Amino acid sequence: MFLTEPVLTKRIPTWPWGDPAERTLISVDQYRRTGGYEALRKAISMEPTDVIQCVKDSQLRGRGGAGFPCGVKWGFLPKIDGGRRYLAINCDEAEPGTFKDRLLVDYDPHQIIEGIAIACWACRLDTAYFFIRGEYRHQAKVMKQAIREAYEAGIFGPQGLLGGATDFAVECHLHRGAGAYICGEETALLEAVEGKRGWPRLKPPFPAIEGLFGRPTIVNNVETLAAVPHIVERGADWWTSIGVESTIGQPASFGTKLVGVSGHVNRPGVYEIGLGAPLNELIEREDYCQGIKSGRAYKASIPGGVSMGVLDQNEFGAELDFDIGRKNGIMGLGTACPTMFDEGTDMVMVARNIARFFKNESCGQCTPCREGSQWVYKLLVKIEQGEAKPADLDLLVEVAGSMGSMQGTTICGLADGTNWAVSTIVKKFRSEFEARIRGTTGVLTATS
Ligand SMILES: Cc1cc2nc3c(=O)[nH]c(=O)nc-3n(C[C@H](O)[C@H](O)[C@H](O)COP(=O)(O)O)c2cc1C
Ligand code: SF4
Repeated sequence: MFLTEPVLTKRIPTWPWGDPAERTLISVDQYRRTGGYEALRKAISMEPTDVIQCVKDSQLRGRGGAGFPCGVKWGFLPKIDGGRRYLAINCDEAEPGTFKDRLLVDYDPHQIIEGIAIACWACRLDTAYFFIRGEYRHQAKVMKQAIREAYEAGIFGPQGLLGGATDFAVECHLHRGAGAYICGEETALLEAVEGKRGWPRLKPPFPAIEGLFGRPTIVNNVETLAAVPHIVERGADWWTSIGVESTIGQPASFGTKLVGVSGHVNRPGVYEIGLGAPLNELIEREDYCQGIKSGRAYKASIPGGVSMGVLDQNEFGAELDFDIGRKNGIMGLGTACPTMFDEGTDMVMVARNIARFFKNESCGQCTPCREGSQWVYKLLVKIEQGEAKPADLDLLVEVAGSMGSMQGTTICGLADGTNWAVSTIVKKFRSEFEARIRGTTGVLTATS
């Protein structure tokens, strides 16, 4: 599960193969000198349907959070009718604790662009919108420059892909967000690109059928697209030789994954692993994260962005693959960016902090999310301040548990995130909440 060679980070020095201090931005020329755009050349020598089949065979699952099989999604597109078809690239990356797509944009943007061009060729998408979160000002500049380089190199533009090697032409635009987390939800993203308020749409229709400007649209995460050139170049069998099969009868977790580790670790940062690597090994290995900070003990972690929920002391060995949710009582792998907490962490404070984020970021369309997230936050503040009664804890669990698209009470998954984050923290650390209600802290203090 720990790779012998980097794949997505082969040009980006990353522990354990390279020192992040040596990272530089890869220009289009450097990218080409090191084999870049050869996968695109190969792709356009193939029938588009064969490229989709290759991605289907690789069982590549989306890296944006939901883990939906990429090739299957590409296969949902309707037949060509002469009208526009879009690719929307999701670089919103606003999930707290998530910073893995940024690494690719910062240093190897042409790897993403190659993935974009291959996806457009395979799915016959003529226009790509690269949506990037408002706070990524530097990354927006880098990406804009890389898109310009790609035009100059003839990757994009009216002459056809790869300097006219085919008649099929792709235009690519960069669209900056304005700082709302909800715009990472794929249909809110489409609204934002259309110049509207970022409100998620009711589904169906799904974007593949009716997306941007009412036309067929594929929405993919940055890391998903960055994996595509490698799969086309080295084949689906090579990709499925990395990672793990499911042990509980679910779709497999193949390929490599970027994991951004933050919180109480000695060496935080983005690492590339094979799916299925145990969290505790990633954290404790000297060539990876070098253990929990200051020699303290591990207490808890949020393995995939705060929406996914929390792992407790007994779940430190959880394997980082798409089965992690079902095996450990959390929502899923999410973005696979673990935030680590040491033994001194106050889990009531963690829950309150997360709830604050969600109540601020709710778009307000659905009553259970708009009102519920405020209510959850207020109850947590009350508990944290020692002003709550035992019944408030039950009320907290009930209100949080009633929110979410999985319950059918909300349009999108933001409310599920509030629910899973709060519910799993209360479930797995209930004694701390009870202690706070009794008037004791229930946790080690920072100096103990
Ligand atoms: C509230 C919310 C925020 C999301 N934020 C992101 C994000 O920042 N980046 C992302 O790729 N996907 C995000 N997603 C998931 C997208 O809706 C979508 O599943 C994903 O972009 C599809 O790409 P993939 O199949 O390549 O993973 C979010 C979903 C929700 C519900
Ligand atoms: S669940 Fe929340 S964020 Fe999503 S559409 Fe409803 S109100 Fe907006």
